[in-house]
Amino acid sequence: MAVVLLGVTGCVAAYKACEVLRGLQGLGLDVRVVMTAHAEQFVGPVTFEALSRHPVYVNPFERNGGAEMPHVHWATDADLLLVAPATANTLGKFAHGIADDALSTLYLATQAPVIVAPAMNVAMWQHPAVKANIEVLRARGVSVVEPGTGYLACGAIGEGRLAEVSEIVAAAAARLGAKSDLAGLMVLVTAGPTREPIDPMRFISNRSSGRMGYRLAEAARDRGAQVVLVSGPTALDAPPGIERVCVTTAEEMYREVEARAGAAQVVIMAAAVSDYRPAEASPQKLKKSAGPRRLDLVENPDILKRLGEGKGSRVLVGFAAETQDLFAQAQRKLVEKHLDLIVANDVSQPGVGFEGETNAAVLIAADGHAVEIPLCSKRVLAERIWDRVAVLLGRTTQESRA
Ligand code: PMT
Repeated sequence: MAVVLLGVTGCVAAYKACEVLRGLQGLGLDVRVVMTAHAEQFVGPVTFEALSRHPVYVNPFERNGGAEMPHVHWATDADLLLVAPATANTLGKFAHGIADDALSTLYLATQAPVIVAPAMNVAMWQHPAVKANIEVLRARGVSVVEPGTGYLACGAIGEGRLAEVSEIVAAAAARLGAKSDLAGLMVLVTAGPTREPIDPMRFISNRSSGRMGYRLAEAARDRGAQVVLVSGPTALDAPPGIERVCVTTAEEMYREVEARAGAAQVVIMAAAVSDYRPAEASPQKLKKSAGPRRLDLVENPDILKRLGEGKGSRVLVGFAAETQDLFAQAQRKLVEKHLDLIVANDVSQPGVGFEGETNAAVLIAADGHAVEIPLCSKRVLAERIWDRVAVLLGRTTQESRA
């Protein structure tokens, strides 16, 4: 597993380093955090320790009973040093070889490629001293993820805001030679549950959190695809760099998917769509005083089946959430819905399917080729699904991913 040293320096955007860390871990990278003392004023090392599951390196003189010097062995282990956010102060130290803290010492000690993502006030970013330091670093082979323009913490509007997390993670992936095998593709992913209203307060739904679909969308984005995510109601934030279309009911999902699927070369339906909806939703709250009642249900459109009927050259991937006869049920759905691939997950198993961050599945292709993916993070499963789709698209013959 590749090792990334994530340098965090002292500015308001330091909290975004947590999201960068998560994004890097999503790529299957081992992330270790090095903070400056100023960064500690904004985010505590405990947060990074919990997220990275490694001690955080702040003070080069601190000893934990051993003679090991992190600036030597971390520097040697590293495949990449990424500093996000990078302040004017740290950029200046890097440019001039000043090693007076853990991070600036590591910078001098490592042979790994270096990326900096600067963040600072607009006047500081435009200062000739900072510009000159950036040029020195570029000339030395350091990659710079340019800051964006927008509202800055100081209240000004201008250039200097930390680049989008997705852009920083993509820069790290590119520098590490990660895959870009979906570049140029437009893909549509569905995620989450649907809600079928009974009355203004109640609905029929299921336990889907949306995580599986969101990880698929993020993985496709990081491999270069343009992604539309049609999402049922979830608590998840819209992933940066992805067009999210929010829907509530199965019929809404059907309309949005149908309107967008024509432009997509790949459609993956990870959403848990309600098969039925109440025949009539009451416009008013149903009263208990009316006594026991029956709910009449009508069938929702089978979105995937309808897409399969007019499939064309599009690659169509479905999921099968089963509690028994996993393989047989999934194969039936694969054929009935004219799919290229089905991801069969046995949701009766612990850690599999709904809600959590893990899943396990069998990927079954239309030609019968089946691959079992044991329990892993939803991001890793997403990567394996895209590996398989890339093979179906003839973009690669390789399925393994470091
Ligand atoms: O969201 P998470 O908490 O991360 O959970 C992930 C998951 C369990 C929801 C996911 O891994 C999963 O299995 N998704 C599909 C759930 C499902 O509805 O399976 P199904 O076997 O009922 O449907 C088969 C396929 O047809 C699915 O791709 C589904 O999106 C699609 N379908 C189903 C019904 C319908 N009316 N229209 C559809 O398009």
